[in-house]
Amino acid sequence: MRTSEAKEPMKSASTAVVVGAQWGDEGKGKIVDVLSESFSVVARYAGGHNAGHTVILGAKKFILQLIPCGILRRGCRAVIGNGVVLDPMALLREIGTLREAGVSIKGPGTASGDSTQPNLFVSNRAHLILPYHRMIELAAENAPGRVKIGTTSRGIGPAYEDKMGRRGLRVADLLDPALLRKHIANACAEKNMIAHSLFNTEPLDPDAMYEEYARAAEQVAPFVCDTAVLLNRAIAGGESVLFEGAQGTMLDIDHGTYPFVTSSSATSGGAATGTGVAPTAIDSVIGVTKAYCTRVGEGPFPTELPGALGDELRKRGNEFGAVTGRPRRCGWLDLPLLRYARMINGISWLVVTKLDVLDELAEIPVCVGYTIGGKKTDEIPAHASGYERIEPIYKKLPGWRKPTSGVTRLEKLPPRTLAYLQFVEKETGARVGMVSTGPDREQTLILDEFAAQLGMATTTRRVKARA
Ligand code: IMP
Repeated sequence: MRTSEAKEPMKSASTAVVVGAQWGDEGKGKIVDVLSESFSVVARYAGGHNAGHTVILGAKKFILQLIPCGILRRGCRAVIGNGVVLDPMALLREIGTLREAGVSIKGPGTASGDSTQPNLFVSNRAHLILPYHRMIELAAENAPGRVKIGTTSRGIGPAYEDKMGRRGLRVADLLDPALLRKHIANACAEKNMIAHSLFNTEPLDPDAMYEEYARAAEQVAPFVCDTAVLLNRAIAGGESVLFEGAQGTMLDIDHGTYPFVTSSSATSGGAATGTGVAPTAIDSVIGVTKAYCTRVGEGPFPTELPGALGDELRKRGNEFGAVTGRPRRCGWLDLPLLRYARMINGISWLVVTKLDVLDELAEIPVCVGYTIGGKKTDEIPAHASGYERIEPIYKKLPGWRKPTSGVTRLEKLPPRTLAYLQFVEKETGARVGMVSTGPDREQTLILDEFAAQLGMATTTRRVKARA
């Protein structure tokens, strides 16, 4: 029933969430960059500068930590949503680096004589990371007897703790000098005391901190707005919005390998709470997975290859953290985990990255199920001790031993590569819509049906959809 006041909703263009289907580092940066060609807005919804999204454009390599990859496309607006924890210094550093590389960055309040449109918007409701968050995290991670998570040491966890504890400082508060001074003074008194008594840490100086952050506030201010309003208006006006996930499903605070997770909702549900866009406004979820598996930091990893094979994958895939440089742990593709990621996120399309890393292998083991305590199961344990008892069941698929690097057409893939992808589709129930065969934008294979659903412009790279 429609009342006379109720308006006919405008037909919107597509909205999609790009989510990591494993433990992060799946190559979301490149995928969001490729997709952003067809989206008006790209919005980050969770995490902070613990993420490292690598985008390679010709001879230039960009590592974006906070700013969504859409910033690299002319005409695309980049939004940092309320679900992100923002270190103002990291944001300003990133803006500076991008500008030095020739990327134009403008906020809605940037004073400028030119006619270019603003392209970076920061939520006034995003919580801030301050130096005491890093202090507490470093001390806690190294304290004897604590479970070491192997964090990125960016203060992410303690900032989310303050958010949930309702004692955090938000971007809107940063712009209020009196409140900023008072908050820093109170927080430093408390955190200095905790850090000193528990970890014997040297205290931080609240006055120096206030001066530094008050200066930063002036530079951040031109980018600040109500991004929920911006995004909802964009969608209502028929514009397409891509939600850029950070980290991955298994690092999600609720659904990941707790406690070896990050502190935010990295899964697709986070896109709604982390931006203020309703779940009903999201059309599709795209899960990004490597053709194998990696993780950084501590925690369970059922298909990990600790020996020479793991080293070989790391070397071929150049598996070192984009943010911390830490070597990534490597292992085979884990299909029970992908099925779980599909369920939790509602993934309809998969994007498979780094396929070419497997090119030289004679055979490729893939985990098709788990045995826990002698029983076959597809359920992901809730507890770390459950993971330790997992015995992966492997199926060996024949390797293709032909180069796939740079292949952009389905019919140019070796038949065994195609069989590998089809096996992943069959086992996960999600369609493969895109395959990344190298770090460059052009080294991407995009299926017609996927492109059509996302409203992507026709490109020569496109391949015919399978019959
Ligand atoms: P935090 O996010 O710094 O608190 O770290 C928690 C865990 O998540 C650690 O194991 C990190 O290595 C991992 N982590 C955080 N961000 C990323 C990411 O962008 N890629 C991969 N792992 C990450």
